[in-house]
Amino acid sequence: MSRNAADNGKIPRHLAIILDGNGRWARRRGLPRLMGHRAGLRKLEEMVHLVKREGIRYFSVYAFSTENWNRPKMEVDGLMSLFRFYIRRKVEAIKAEGARIRFCGRNDKLPPDLLEQMRWAEERTKDETVLDFILCINYGGRAEIMDAINAMMKEGHEGPVTEEDLRRHFYLPDVPDPDLIVRTSGELRLSNFWLWESAYSEFYFTDIHWPDFDETALKAALENYAERERRYGGLKL
Ligand code: IPE
Ligand code: IPE
Ligand code: MG
Repeated sequence: MSRNAADNGKIPRHLAIILDGNGRWARRRGLPRLMGHRAGLRKLEEMVHLVKREGIRYFSVYAFSTENWNRPKMEVDGLMSLFRFYIRRKVEAIKAEGARIRFCGRNDKLPPDLLEQMRWAEERTKDETVLDFILCINYGGRAEIMDAINAMMKEGHEGPVTEEDLRRHFYLPDVPDPDLIVRTSGELRLSNFWLWESAYSEFYFTDIHWPDFDETALKAALENYAERERRYGGLKL
């Protein structure tokens, strides 16, 4: 598919993926869950390449939710270590794709050295313009809305609050709403991802576990999206 397809609205400008099924992928192979997370993170570099080739401009992935702190400490610590390792090892390759790395979520609870690395990765890739690669770590849609409200209150906002006011206080106000949200591994829910921003997103669900998601799976999702008729509450002209 070409850039023309993107211009025709046949390709999402913003593709969002809920990376689910790492644990099940590992269990099926008799491996510990963290091996599934490792395989899942490895997948991202390939996806950045494929997504860029499709002419998508914004690619966001849900990698750790505000609710994922409820998992056993061993899994959470392991995930934080994998994030550290992944960022350190992959920033240059992602930069070489022309992708700008951005993180989206709350800073609290994240280990300080990981936060430092996240800021470094953002700084290192800030001039790349082909693709925004957005890693949602410690992200929750409700948290984002509450943080925006509290930021406005702190500024002394007198109200009434408009949608634009709220948006301006979101984590990444310049990023357009996701056109397509893909969730892997068969679960049919949003799990607190892009809560406000998904009001008119198209959804695509696949049973494939995230570490097995590949070019064919991506193409299937995009072909399905290209057939959708988006109306935004209006009538087709
Ligand atoms: C998704 O995989 C990654 C994270 C939520 C961190 P899961 O860990 O949710 O995998 P399943 O759902 O248990 O298979
Ligand atoms: C959603 O997956 C969060 C991420 C993919 C980061 P979960 O596996 O945590 O979601 P639930 O618990 O099945 O809703
Ligand atoms: Mg899951």
